[in-house]
Amino acid sequence: MSDIDKSLEIIHKLSDDKPEIGIILGSGMSGICNEINSKISINYNDLPGFPKTSVDGHKGELIIGKLNNVPILCLNGRSHFYEGDNKSMVLPIRVLKNFGIKTLIITNAAGGINTEYLPGSLMLIKDHINFQSSNPLVGKNNDTYGPRFPDLSNAYDQLLRRRIADIAKKLTIPLHEGVYLACLGPNFETPAEINAFRILGADAVGMSTVPEVILARHCDIRVLAISVITNLAAGITSEPITHQETLANAKIASKNMISLISNFVYKISNN
Ligand code: HPA
Repeated sequence: MSDIDKSLEIIHKLSDDKPEIGIILGSGMSGICNEINSKISINYNDLPGFPKTSVDGHKGELIIGKLNNVPILCLNGRSHFYEGDNKSMVLPIRVLKNFGIKTLIITNAAGGINTEYLPGSLMLIKDHINFQSSNPLVGKNNDTYGPRFPDLSNAYDQLLRRRIADIAKKLTIPLHEGVYLACLGPNFETPAEINAFRILGADAVGMSTVPEVILARHCDIRVLAISVITNLAAGITSEPITHQETLANAKIASKNMISLISNFVYKISNN
């Protein structure tokens, strides 16, 4: 039996729910877990092939429960390329696919390159630039999941973006819309890199999300992704950037993130 099938068997044994919406929580976003009712939680260590998360703010548990009365499956914590394995999210995304997830909501912490973005604000990702110098689909293609050359022209589903933008407007939650640039990390960028990225059209920078988006689109899961702008990117102020600062600002933004996501899941599951 493959690790994917073993993981699925463990999840099915613990839960009868059949959620079609998945959520990946980035750094400092786990507050949303408190809003999930009737939940079961499985540590990644107990799911064959799931990554060991090694970063503060990334707990490493799979949760199934109800958010705003809507069944959801939540990955609380991810692993990143800079942790050493560019395939580490392949198995979790394919478990989600086989489980029946149709829509994936991805969150992350990011530095604001666009000087109009303040720490604590939210940015809906409309497109990305992959500067990670790697890709989770490198190697032999698994044709059962998707094509060798997947199309990414509507990677961040336009219809879903319009829906969440409408919700944000109704809730009077400011929501920027911009381009996310993914670096490999783990260092924060240099001021010269940030200047270059701005010229290239990036609005925010981070070290995650793009691998999961590529994997999800490869197997035809719809994607919506939101960044919490946790700090001004390097060189915009003279202050150094720290992981503690990013976690603190992620917490501040998390109330808005929770309202947006819980209203969004309700909306897409009810029409
Ligand atoms: N750069 C890269 N990743 C990040 C940042 C940043 O400024 N802030 C939060 N994650």
